Amino acid sequence: MNFSERVEQLKAELDKATAKNLEEAEQLRIKYLGSKGVFKALFNDFKSVSSEEKRALGKPLNELKSFAEERVAQWKAELSGAEVKHKDIDLTRPGMLGSLGAEHPISIIKREIIDIFHGIGFSVAEGPEIEDDWHNFSALNFPPEHPARDMQDTFFVKNPNGTEDYVLRTHTSSVQVRTMESEKPPIRIIAPGRVFRNEAVSARSHCIFHQIEGLYIDEGVTFADMKQTLEYFAKEFFGKSKIRLRPSYFPFTEPSAEVDVYWGLENELDHRITKGTGWLEVMGCGMVDPAVLESSNIDPEKYSGFAFGMGLERSAMQRFQIPDIRMIFENDVRFLQQFRSAL
Ligand code: PHE
Repeated sequence: MNFSERVEQLKAELDKATAKNLEEAEQLRIKYLGSKGVFKALFNDFKSVSSEEKRALGKPLNELKSFAEERVAQWKAELSGAEVKHKDIDLTRPGMLGSLGAEHPISIIKREIIDIFHGIGFSVAEGPEIEDDWHNFSALNFPPEHPARDMQDTFFVKNPNGTEDYVLRTHTSSVQVRTMESEKPPIRIIAPGRVFRNEAVSARSHCIFHQIEGLYIDEGVTFADMKQTLEYFAKEFFGKSKIRLRPSYFPFTEPSAEVDVYWGLENELDHRITKGTGWLEVMGCGMVDPAVLESSNIDPEKYSGFAFGMGLERSAMQRFQIPDIRMIFENDVRFLQQFRSAL
């Protein structure tokens, strides 16, 4: 057999070669690529072939060696993977669920309330937490120096340019203004968000909390529409169908009311929650003051509407029996993990 026939034969052999396991792969490696292997011999003999043959066969020989090396590496990779897989996978074992994160109690309450209002055509609106005086106060009918501004202890944010100061919004009512400025009636929105008040932190109150605002503006919206809407909400959210409206005051609504839900006084907890009255105060509401509509360029002769606003912490605390509002903001995992999502 001349040199070129030997190369041809080796190629045919390598094409057919297979290894069934790691051991066979190693044996083939030694046979062909080892220090006393077939390639070694071929390369040795290559030295003594004619220069013509060298030119013709050098390249194919080198390629064949690379091919052999690749085949061996491939067998080894495949076979070692296959062996491990075979050993480690037990197809009869029951499946394992990935661990689910917990949903924050405030998020749970927020999601429920959004769902309830989605059902009657309200969509979600948002606004910034750092707000200007206009959207937090002036457009809502709080004139400068008006004592009603004291109802809400405000955090001020210094504007480095020295022009106008900003505030951390004290309520989500600022989103009412932003929505009325950018949309034409009919408007039906709810606006969930964080609000800030400069209050001493205790087990019952915090300087950060969450509200959900509601706003409905259209032609011919009445106080009765508001009451119906809030009754529907009380039934869906608290599972209680009796509410009452007590006269109240907000600069941006007229008339204004506090909404109480009849909770009942069946047990010890009911007494505690309702301070012995059977009624639970849940939100503020009222008919949007015509001056507020006007501030946002909505014609009060043509349109009317109602607004309401409620805090989320109190509902969350009551629903999940959270004894201290500070727990809601501390993000202690041991606390948060208790609210595993039911997904
Ligand atoms: N913004 C009021 C508050 O923070 C709540 C409210 C909203 C009242 C909308 C009436 C209408 O207390």
